[in-house]
Amino acid sequence: MTTQMATTIEARSSAVTTSFDKRSLRDAFGSFATGVTIVTTAGPTGADIGLTANSFSSVSLDPPMVLWSLARTSANIDAFRNSGHFAVHILSADQEALSGRFASKVADRFEGLALDRGPDGIPMLPDCMARFACKLAYQYEGGDHVIFVGEIVDFGHSARKPLVFHGGRYGMLLPKQSAPAADSADALSNLSSDDLLYQVSNAYFRTRQAVVDELEHHGWTAEEYAVLSIIGREDGLCMPEIVARSEKFRGQTISAEIVQKLVARGLLHEGDSTDGQTKVRLTSEGRLSVMELIAIRKSSEADVQGSLDPSEVQLLKHLLGRLEHSAHVVAST
Ligand SMILES: Cc1cc2nc3c(=O)[nH]c(=O)nc-3n(C[C@H](O)[C@H](O)[C@H](O)COP(=O)(O)O)c2cc1C
Repeated sequence: MTTQMATTIEARSSAVTTSFDKRSLRDAFGSFATGVTIVTTAGPTGADIGLTANSFSSVSLDPPMVLWSLARTSANIDAFRNSGHFAVHILSADQEALSGRFASKVADRFEGLALDRGPDGIPMLPDCMARFACKLAYQYEGGDHVIFVGEIVDFGHSARKPLVFHGGRYGMLLPKQSAPAADSADALSNLSSDDLLYQVSNAYFRTRQAVVDELEHHGWTAEEYAVLSIIGREDGLCMPEIVARSEKFRGQTISAEIVQKLVARGLLHEGDSTDGQTKVRLTSEGRLSVMELIAIRKSSEADVQGSLDPSEVQLLKHLLGRLEHSAHVVAST
């Protein structure tokens, strides 16, 4: 392995000791949102070394250069100081677990990962948003950190959503939407497409319609779907319970007739009665139908997600969950 020592530049000014509160300074640094990277190199005996770092920054286009900084307390400080190359991998929104792994004390951070090899045999992680193989050009003393500047010898990138780190927490990027044109107001409802309620109900109506169309295409109605999936989750329900659950969770009214039709088709059977109410249960054929309905719903859910990538779907679910929670709090106060 060739080891090219990079120039080490010592700090010119004498160290200034301040009485800043470290916690508060750390919080102030944390207000700067960054991406998340994994920086790797090879140790003196060729061992794979890597850690999570958000101190990465691009430096120069010509020559192409990047920098990052490593705590002097790092177990791998000497490996990075003495290795001639390092690689920086920019993580995508779905790689939070990888970031956690490379910041943790696990015995082998690379275990089970398929690796490419860069210059000097340094480990290169495939499947990142971007990666830069670098020749170590300079090292600067930076207080309790060492700043490494590398000259890029190879790089690659792909269109993905980045993993974000802010205030000590992981996050995702939400592109700002430009405000819609003023004339897009719906005259009848007096709601514009910028209104949250309009957007939520419009999205609900359209996504639900996609599922209903798919169900009808397979010979099912939305009402049948509602009854079978409600009963499928419980071991026997009486009619008022089915109606109450449907209205509460789906805003859909169910008629007693539909239950009778499903009984006649052999998908439900009426069993024992308590307090004069007959419990309705799925037959084995009914259970098969529920599985078919779940498959239909899953396939139309995949269609509805369309061009959203997994991180956007995750974000949407998170926001809808919070919206549901705050609507619930408002309703119960
Ligand atoms: C999001 C995130 C960013 C981090 N950034 C850095 C960094 O830029 N420099 C650093 O020295 N440690 C950073 N760390 C901490 C190291 O990843 C962590 O201390 C790791 O255990 C160091 O491993 P090592 O001692 O094997 O080098 C970061 C951790 C996380 C979770």
